[in-house]
Amino acid sequence: MSENVGRTDFLFHFIYYVALFFFSLIMALMIYFVFRYRRKSPQELGTGPTHSTLLEVIWTGVPIVLVIAMFVIGFFEYMRTTGPVASPNSYEIQVLGQKWKWQFTYPNGYVDQNLHVPVDTPVQLTMTSEDVIHSLFIPAFRMKQDVVPGRYTKMYFRGTAPGEYVIFCAEYCGTSHSDMLARVVVHAPGEYEKWLEEASNFIDKLPATEAGARLYLSRGCASCHTADGSAGTGPTFKALFGHDQKLSDGSTVKVDENYIRESIIEPQVKVAAGFEPVMPTYKGRIKDKEITVLIEYIKSLQ
Ligand code: CUA
Repeated sequence: MSENVGRTDFLFHFIYYVALFFFSLIMALMIYFVFRYRRKSPQELGTGPTHSTLLEVIWTGVPIVLVIAMFVIGFFEYMRTTGPVASPNSYEIQVLGQKWKWQFTYPNGYVDQNLHVPVDTPVQLTMTSEDVIHSLFIPAFRMKQDVVPGRYTKMYFRGTAPGEYVIFCAEYCGTSHSDMLARVVVHAPGEYEKWLEEASNFIDKLPATEAGARLYLSRGCASCHTADGSAGTGPTFKALFGHDQKLSDGSTVKVDENYIRESIIEPQVKVAAGFEPVMPTYKGRIKDKEITVLIEYIKSLQ
C-alpha cells in the first residue's frame, strides 16, 4: 500500500457514485416522462410552463459544484503524485523501460529488475525509456505513468506497509509486452539498507557463474537470449562459447571472451547471421566485472 491510496480511491468512488446516481435519475425520469406526457390524441397540443428559473439554476448549479469538486481533488492528487508539490528530499530511483523489462537503478549505481523501497519514505521515480513508450503501472499503489523515450517522467509515492506488489507495463509495446512484470518490494524499517548492501555486493560474494546467472536475469539478457537452446530474439547462450558464429556480413567469428564483450558494448558491430540488429548497447551501463561474470556464466552453459 502507499499513502495516496485512500485519497485516490475516494476520488474514484466519488465520481463513480455521482455518475451512477445521475444516470439512474435521468433514465428513470426519462422513462416516466415518456409515459406521463405522451400525446394521447392526434389533435392534442402541448401546453405547460416554458420556463422555470428555479429549476434551471438547480440543474446548472449542482453539476458545476460536482465537477469542480472532482477537478480540485483530482488536480491536487495529480500534483502530489507527479512531482511539483512533492517532498524535495525524496529517495530517488531511476527507472528504465526497455523491450521487454524494467530496470531500476539505485543511488549507489546498483541495478535490479525489481523496485525495492524503504517503508515510510518518500520515493521519487525518474523514468525514461530505451526504445518505445512503456507505462509503469502499480495497481496496489493506484499509480500509472507513461515512460517515454527522450524525456523523463516522474512518479512520487510513500509505501505505508511492508510487502510485495506487482508492477505491470500498461502500454502495448510489442511482442513481450505482457512479460514486462516486476515487483515493488516495500521493506520494513532497517531492512532496506541491509538488502541494498547485500544485493550490491553479490558479484564479490557469489561464485562467478552464479553471479553471472543472476546478472543474466536482472540485466535483461534473458528476455532475448535463452539458456536452453530454444529460439529467441537473439542467439541462445547454450553452447555458444567457443563455437564459430556466422555474422550477417557473411564472415565468421569465434565466440570468445572478446567477442562477447564487444557484443555487449557495441552490439551492432558484429551481428550474428539470421538475427535483427536490435540489441541496445550496454556501454557505460555495465561494469567490467559484470561482463566478466556474464562471460563465465555463458561458458558454463555447454
Ligand atoms: Cu512495455 Cu508494454
